[in-house]
Amino acid sequence: MSNSPTKIELTQPDDWHLHIRDGEVMKDVLADTARQFARAIIMPNLKPPVTTVDLAKAYQSRIESNLKLLGVTEFMPLMTLYLTDNTSADEVRKAKDAGIAAFKLYPAGATTNSDAGVSDLKHCHAALEAMQAVGMPLLVHGEVTHADIDIFDREAVFIDTILEPLRKKLPELKIVFEHITTKQAAHYVRDAVTGGKNTIAATITPQHLLMNRNAIFAGGIRPHNYCLPVLKREEHRVALLQAATSGNSRFFLGTDSAPHAKGAKEAACGCAGCYSAFNALGLYAEAFESVGKLDKLEGFASFFGPDFYSLPRNSKKITLVKHAQSIPMELPLGDATIVPLRAGETIAWSLV
Ligand code: NCD
Ligand code: ZN
Repeated sequence: MSNSPTKIELTQPDDWHLHIRDGEVMKDVLADTARQFARAIIMPNLKPPVTTVDLAKAYQSRIESNLKLLGVTEFMPLMTLYLTDNTSADEVRKAKDAGIAAFKLYPAGATTNSDAGVSDLKHCHAALEAMQAVGMPLLVHGEVTHADIDIFDREAVFIDTILEPLRKKLPELKIVFEHITTKQAAHYVRDAVTGGKNTIAATITPQHLLMNRNAIFAGGIRPHNYCLPVLKREEHRVALLQAATSGNSRFFLGTDSAPHAKGAKEAACGCAGCYSAFNALGLYAEAFESVGKLDKLEGFASFFGPDFYSLPRNSKKITLVKHAQSIPMELPLGDATIVPLRAGETIAWSLV
């Protein structure tokens, strides 16, 4: 590949961290993802959360109905369950047998719809042991929630107080540190000693590769750039971009595209979440191109995720071209609208 290609062909990517919500808005957001990705890990933070295999199966069939309405035949949702203080080891084994892809740990109160999350990991020991035993990945929202910890420090404190002790206790548990936002997280995952086993990985969002925390306050408050974990300082963005483009298979694509209606974002207490699904691949291509590493995009976007989850890589190819795409100010979201990431601006790359 030349240093500045205008066209790149990739094995079709998957999105390893995605929110598509439920009800009438789902169809609109699913369409954007299914245009680009073959599969996606579907987050379970609905209201009420997806805590059992039966609830996940019902959610999956609602997703399949929407795919049918959209005329999409080739997209595969990978279902997850929401870990609670009461998740039993039996539910974990049942989930494994039912083809559930992973469990998600939300520390109670950490983010959107996390009130039913885990209050203390000590309540989950039997479930976590069962996950380790059956090879069920645990996806973690890596932030502590104590009000006395500064919001910009919550991820780094989580590593020392929760993640490292958990990995010591259950060294064979497969963990994905989701949507990492700090140098500390990138280095922790890079340097973790696993004895050659595939036990730790991290997903990285496009917004954390492209923006630092100034983007939340550029000329005034910018609610559409507010997500959790919140954007950090430039040195952290640089470390994340270095990790994503390093070719290290522990880092892979997870957009964390998290749709909220325009009115719920532009409010006195606006919701956390960036809607990146509209042209997520264009955003990632832009980030990789910014450091001359477009040749590393395919591993990050298309290979390392399925390898970690022990799933086959996709065989279909897609093409991205360096053709600026204008991003609309708003998109339909059921009866409401949503403001996509980079609304009113352009993204340099688009899918053919
Ligand atoms: C997500 C959401 O809205 O569901 N929000 C976000 O800011 N990322 C939840 C999450 O992944 O933290
Ligand atoms: Zn998320």
